Amino acid sequence: MIQPWPSDPAEAGRVSAVSFRGVSKHFIQPGGTRLEVLHDVNFEAPAGDIIAILGRSGSGKTTLLNIAAGLIKPDAGRAIILGQDTGGAVDWNRVGYMFQDDRLLPWRIASSNVSLALEAGAMPAIERRRRAREGLALVGLAEFAESYPHQLSGGMRSRVALARSLVGEPDLLLMDEPFSRLDAQTRDSMHSELLRIHALRRMSIIFVTHDVEEAVILANSIIMLSARPGWVHRRVEVSFPQPRRRSSEAMTLAAELRNSIGVADWKEDALS
Ligand SMILES: Nc1ncnc2c1ncn2[C@@H]1O[C@H](COP(=O)(O)OP(=O)(O)OP(=O)(O)O)[C@@H](O)[C@H]1O
Ligand SMILES: [Mg+2]
Repeated sequence: MIQPWPSDPAEAGRVSAVSFRGVSKHFIQPGGTRLEVLHDVNFEAPAGDIIAILGRSGSGKTTLLNIAAGLIKPDAGRAIILGQDTGGAVDWNRVGYMFQDDRLLPWRIASSNVSLALEAGAMPAIERRRRAREGLALVGLAEFAESYPHQLSGGMRSRVALARSLVGEPDLLLMDEPFSRLDAQTRDSMHSELLRIHALRRMSIIFVTHDVEEAVILANSIIMLSARPGWVHRRVEVSFPQPRRRSSEAMTLAAELRNSIGVADWKEDALS
């Protein structure tokens, strides 16, 4: 039987929402070659924290999130999610995942793409619809609830995907480059929105980004992966108060991180 987690809210921050212990993963490429993607990855994400994962394209960030979401199994090591080992039973209803591609179903309107995330449970359809509309309003898309994905812009589709990952009120939210398709202004407002939702719900968030500034603005901790095979090259704690957008100390840290590891290249890698 799966216990509520953390069972005592006072434990939040002291227990780990995600714990990777010696996690390694390889894939066999179409030609038969073995590609080592993650090598001995170790980190803890305390409950209620926001963790950013930074790394070059191909360093295994999506693979890491897929392991945390239980979609793939590690070859070695353990991934413990909300106190449950992914080798056994985990209550995946408590985990939200915003994929790197939006994965919207083209034949469903925006609100039923959002309510899809609630269909596995016993929630009545009317309540699912109500929550879906609330979720879309949260990301500024109330007027587009009836639109099909092809009638939305790329940024709007990202916001529908964000609403879908939030609608189940997850204890752990995994996000793979959630804001990379948004224009700068929308991205700023989504950052504020995410921080507002996080302050309300105190869920744990792990998000992948190529944008060092975004990591510094949002995260309590930044985990930097090495180039493939990815392992935790460096972890940086960020304790500046919010809002950080115009804070000179936050921007100084972002510049320092960018310089220290040549992260300026990462975006170009990602685009190539
Ligand atoms: N199912 C798979 N089968 C074979 N190879 C895979 C599979 N999934 C990922 N890979 C390979 O593993 C490596 C890491 O992929 P991953 O998607 O985790 O990288 P990433 O860090 O998320 O990159 P990006 O920043 O471009 O999204 C890549 O070289 C990719 O080709
Ligand atoms: Mg990726």
